Amino acid sequence: MLNIVVLVSGGGTNLQALIDAEQAGQIPGGKISCVIASKPGVYALERAAKAGIPSRVVERKAYPDRKSYSQAILEALNEEKADLVILAGFMVILDEMVPKAYPNRILNVHPALIPSFCGPGFYGLKVHEAALAAGVKLTGATVHFVSEVCDGGPIILQGAVPVRNDDTPETLQKRVMEEVEWKLLPKAAALFCAGKIKVENGIARVEEE
Ligand code: GAR
Repeated sequence: MLNIVVLVSGGGTNLQALIDAEQAGQIPGGKISCVIASKPGVYALERAAKAGIPSRVVERKAYPDRKSYSQAILEALNEEKADLVILAGFMVILDEMVPKAYPNRILNVHPALIPSFCGPGFYGLKVHEAALAAGVKLTGATVHFVSEVCDGGPIILQGAVPVRNDDTPETLQKRVMEEVEWKLLPKAAALFCAGKIKVENGIARVEEE
């Protein structure tokens, strides 16, 4: 059974999708063994507690810079014996030391079709604001492996949704989450745990089901 450690910063709806999938037997071979939050008091921690999952807080504010914070996260991941790490609404950019220690073992969900609307500064609602400002007619979400380039690692799964004329960042975020993120993140976790994702020359290939 692989230990899945989920990193969160906020409401944790993607964490909830992972918990629900695990409880429904949809991630055979994996178990969410710990949730780590970058802030105390976030609702994601309550979701973990309700599901009986141990959690810890490694507070971003308690560290002076990205490197020392990343070192603390790395130590926590090692202590938790993480086999798979999932960034589920984790709003901190980690130093490259973390993906280097866990190459192709960290998943991230990003609320856009990478390589659009991604990289430093594109997180949460800001991504949907940018999509609306650009007038794109389709957007979506991407699950990818985390590399040393922010939002730049191998793409595993993507799904698209239409943008409507009357969308606000909030309505678009809701559609992307409901129709794509909450489905694809648990699916990618299951594929990983089943050994069905291979990376060659920086490209991820998912074994056909
Ligand atoms: C999600 O839309 C996730 O894709 C996004 O933040 C939201 C978190 O929601 N993540 C990023 O923007 C990371 N770059 P949640 O806490 O309810 O899962």
